[in-house]
Amino acid sequence: MSPDRVVQEAPWLLWLLEAMQRGQEGLLRLWHALGWTPVVDGQPAWPWAQRLAGEHLLLDVGQARALAGGLVAAALVVVLLLLAWLGGRRRRLRWGLLVSAGLVAVLAPWPSAQVLWVPASPRSFHHNPVPFSDTAIAAGAAHYQRLCVACHGTTGNGQGPLAARQAVWPPSFTGPLLWRRADGDLLHAVRQGLTTAGGQPSMPGFAEQLTVAQSWELLHFLRAQAAGQLLQLSGSWAMPVALPDMALRCPGQPWQRVRDLQRQRVRLVGLEDVQGLLPDPRMLTLWLPPEGRAVAATLPAAVDCVVTSGPEARQALRWLTGSAALQQTQLLADRSGWLRARNDRGADSWSEGDLVCRLADAGAAVPSNTAEDSLTRLLRSMDSQPVVYVKGGSLHGGAGRRGAPRDQAAS
Ligand code: HEC
Repeated sequence: MSPDRVVQEAPWLLWLLEAMQRGQEGLLRLWHALGWTPVVDGQPAWPWAQRLAGEHLLLDVGQARALAGGLVAAALVVVLLLLAWLGGRRRRLRWGLLVSAGLVAVLAPWPSAQVLWVPASPRSFHHNPVPFSDTAIAAGAAHYQRLCVACHGTTGNGQGPLAARQAVWPPSFTGPLLWRRADGDLLHAVRQGLTTAGGQPSMPGFAEQLTVAQSWELLHFLRAQAAGQLLQLSGSWAMPVALPDMALRCPGQPWQRVRDLQRQRVRLVGLEDVQGLLPDPRMLTLWLPPEGRAVAATLPAAVDCVVTSGPEARQALRWLTGSAALQQTQLLADRSGWLRARNDRGADSWSEGDLVCRLADAGAAVPSNTAEDSLTRLLRSMDSQPVVYVKGGSLHGGAGRRGAPRDQAAS
């Protein structure tokens, strides 16, 4: 079952996952505060060989139910034991409560240990401290060219010239792999290397060749590249990806970067000529002018801001869309900062099919109303299907924590 479906069927699962994540992070902070675990690559190291596997629960709602049932049962056992203890001298009552506690513990639907626990690394709970920005993606691309392309290939599909000579074939990144793994586990793979199940080295570690910040930049690049490849191959951004942070000039406004545009819909246009573009109050319009174009101090009427980090921004968007030509491209990001729609027909109007980051089986979620234009319909579909991003079993965005990617980049 896809995570989308699981989340739709069992919305409580999001709370359970969040509780698991917070609980483990809290324990890690406590251990670090007590001086029982060192800092590795700038963040406290996870001291245990295993961690709870939220990502497995997402794929198997039955196990998640078992875990939720088990937690309720555990709480009940505690209450029963407490009552038995408070029961004082009433012996019968006490025994009755103790036996019930035992029965609850035995009969509770505990999930299987293999599903609940997965191997962890010291970096499993590390968070990427580098903002997801055009400059980080461009820098990551350069590290990738230097160190990774020989095995992982120019598109990240695992078909580099050295791939066949490895102990195992490098995986393709053009799938859910990078989204299923926690950031920290990916960082660990890049810095420490990987071994096969039999203990044979399968990928070298790059801790000597890359600083910690460069390693994080690489992970941003890998996801941007994978998003573009997914879009090219399947026509959709099946895995959510954020509009990267970029430097802006917005006459008459205090905004200096994309991350300052909190909670607004954003339209990013790469068109050569924006004179024909109509102003639209429902979104902010950012213009990424073509290479070498000087932009006058006063912007065209439909444009709110111009992107000033031109070369890096163009490079980052080429990776994100998997296409070299940006002159025909417009992108739409939702209020939470997720890239949702792409129109590569120049200044032409939008169609609902342009919503390329949507729920897997949303179909025609929004009843069509012929009086509405297609952009209005697109915006309504977009708003009615907010991204609930669950990565490596941890929550990013979703109910109550909307605004995740841009807010995170800002914090
Ligand atoms: C010498 C070949 C080689 C080079 C160079 C290489 N890799 Fe790998 N990589 C592999 C192989 C082989 C695997 C699969 C290993 C396995 O599954 O045991 C892999 C797996 C991975 C994975 C998946 C980890 C996971 O959790 O499944 C990531 C991410 C990755 N590589 C990133 C990189 C990055 C980033 C670089 C450049 C800094 C790089 N690799 C350089 C061969 C290579």
